Amino acid sequence: MSNPRKTLLIVHHTPSPATRELLEAVLAGAKDPEIQNVDVLARPALAATLPDMLDADGYLFGTTANFGYMSGALKHFFDTVYYPSLDHVAGRPYGLWVHGNNDTVGAAAAVGKLATGLALSQAADVLEIVGAIDAATREKAYELGGTLAATLME
Ligand SMILES: Cc1cc2nc3c(=O)[nH]c(=O)nc-3n(C[C@H](O)[C@H](O)[C@H](O)COP(=O)(O)O)c2cc1C
Repeated sequence: MSNPRKTLLIVHHTPSPATRELLEAVLAGAKDPEIQNVDVLARPALAATLPDMLDADGYLFGTTANFGYMSGALKHFFDTVYYPSLDHVAGRPYGLWVHGNNDTVGAAAAVGKLATGLALSQAADVLEIVGAIDAATREKAYELGGTLAATLME
């Protein structure tokens, strides 16, 4: 019998209080009481490994915008896992949030391109946040976490 439990891997770069707030909201959504049979594994991008990637059933990536691109930490993660993951993760769902101070477009596009290369399936709109975190942003981050986890329950 196949294992009914699924794993949502959250790979994030969280260098500040604002980004920590976002991560906590995403985690709370992913662990909403209505979600069942989904284990949430949150890994800082510099600590996430190839086995984490291969063993997961879906992904949430969270990054800051740095110099118009994803954070170096998340880039390092993709540098590490990209080629060994090809042909193993196709079709798995993913979501993405990006936090910046003025422009998150390049970072979001960069992660999107890698996800396309890996043939991941986008399961939620990209959440792009600029500046301070308010209640509405926290709610969107909660929803993002919940959406990805709920996708794995289907
Ligand atoms: C080296 C560096 C480069 C950055 N480049 C960008 C950028 O290209 N676009 C942007 O919107 N924010 C940029 N930022 C701001 C970070 O995205 C922001 O500091 C991060 O999301 C954390 O948010 P906080 O500083 O409000 O806590 C940069 C920050 C640093 C330290």
